[in-house]
Amino acid sequence: MTASFSPDSDRILHAPLRSRIMSADEAAALIPSGAHVGMSGFTGAGYPKLVPAALARRIESAHASGDPFRISVWTGASTAPELDGALAKVDGIEMRLPYQSDPECRRRINAGQMEYIDIHLSHVAQAVWSGFFGPLDVAVVEVAGVLEDGRLVPSSSIGNNKTWIDRADRVILEVNAWQNPALHGMHDIYYGTQLPPRRVPIPLVRADDRIGESCFRCDPDKIIAVVPTRHPDRNSAFSAPDENSRRIAGHILEFLEHEVKKGRLPRELLPLQSGVGNIANAVLEGLNEGPFENMTAFTEVLQDGMLAMLKSGKLRCASATAFSLSPDAQAELNADLARYRDRIILRPQEISNHPELIRRLGVIAMNGMIEADLYGNVNSTHLMGSQIMNGIGGSGDFARNAYISIFMTPSLAKDGAISCIVPMVSHVDHTEHDVQVLVTEQGLADLRGLSPKQRARLVIDRCAHPDFRPMLHDYVERALHSGAGRQTPHLLGEALSWHQRYLATGTMRP
Ligand code: COA
Repeated sequence: MTASFSPDSDRILHAPLRSRIMSADEAAALIPSGAHVGMSGFTGAGYPKLVPAALARRIESAHASGDPFRISVWTGASTAPELDGALAKVDGIEMRLPYQSDPECRRRINAGQMEYIDIHLSHVAQAVWSGFFGPLDVAVVEVAGVLEDGRLVPSSSIGNNKTWIDRADRVILEVNAWQNPALHGMHDIYYGTQLPPRRVPIPLVRADDRIGESCFRCDPDKIIAVVPTRHPDRNSAFSAPDENSRRIAGHILEFLEHEVKKGRLPRELLPLQSGVGNIANAVLEGLNEGPFENMTAFTEVLQDGMLAMLKSGKLRCASATAFSLSPDAQAELNADLARYRDRIILRPQEISNHPELIRRLGVIAMNGMIEADLYGNVNSTHLMGSQIMNGIGGSGDFARNAYISIFMTPSLAKDGAISCIVPMVSHVDHTEHDVQVLVTEQGLADLRGLSPKQRARLVIDRCAHPDFRPMLHDYVERALHSGAGRQTPHLLGEALSWHQRYLATGTMRP
């Protein structure tokens, strides 16, 4: 499919919508206090660039005149300072879901000033259709253009946009002429999802299958405002892989090669899912230099490492819901987007993260974590049990349903004051039943086929930092002999004492 607009041409080709063009301030004035607002945006890609900031200005002046003005913000995932940051700074968010990583949001959530619902990304659409969060009053969605027939060309992320457009009473569009017109044709919007009991199998059997349409459908009568913009997406640069990341990547590569030798994985591996952050990116860099060819990705975000793999040809195709590229990688992709259009597919997050598809394809999931315990339970979201970091994102969608689920972290945090391998995690996102492999710079523990006691010994010897190994072995041995049971030995009075010690003294070390 070819692009319908040139970079500089008008992006709003549907004549009736031209009469609804207005400024961001005028559009923001159409959003009432108390509204549930579904915004586009998934990492720093495809979020509305102007209306949230205009709304934040409006909220600030409402607060200055004693008028309590707050909205609920629903998105695809994290966004950027112009959205989450701007609205949080003026205390404009009553309720936030489903994932965030903004420092000001985090501060307010942890201070009890903002409600936050952290849910699996694949669950959001279903929950909204079922009405669990109440009605969706307004959608504010960035698109790359509007075609003559009114269909909307999606932007650099899809996230929950299809659901927002379908469910919202009113829709505000930001039409961003900065977005590359060659995006048209890259998306695959599947309109076949249903609520039970009408649900049918999703007809996707390979990572690069296209099963939907290239554009969003939207009743033009629902569109109350159209705001033209020309603003870049904003993602931060990745840091060059440090020694720990390189070692973690090395352990994972060695493991995958071993699995291929054993005949448990094909030579081109199985579709890859890679989480957010520098370590995940380092693993992709490692894969790009490794022995595997013709790989595929069925993942959530396409970051720099995957783009490099597409460029080198190691990765045949990538399915995701959003780009999450550094400014340099973004510029590189934009300069040559048409070349990648057949090999990159952006889908709604209810499809990119769908349990049925992840299980069918046999995805290899690789995600970061905050801490793991001796038995393989993983905490991806909370510091010291009660402070949210970001959220579960798609890690649970992938971990529970993957063919192999890998979690990785450096063995130490906070200059060595914290061991990321602990007797018991202070919050559980992924239970021992969803975690097959743990990796730190120290080594890799393959937990498949092992009982809890066997897992504990392996996790300590392979993953824990040597400084903490004696304390962990001592804990397990004492728990085995004086704990209440021998299946998953614990000393309940002591299990979280490492976290308590850190909170009291600033270190987990005795
Ligand atoms: N206890 C307390 N703090 C810890 C810690 C631990 N065990 N481990 C790390 N931290 C702190 C770090 O010191 C750092 O703090 P700082 O920002 O004050 O320096 C912070 O947590 C982040 O650590 P970092 O090592 O930089 O993490 P990261 O960027 O690799 O991200 C997660 C790790 C788990 C936070 C991140 O992967 C995440 O949000 N995951 C959940 C969502 C997800 O997996 N999405 C992908 C699915 S597609």
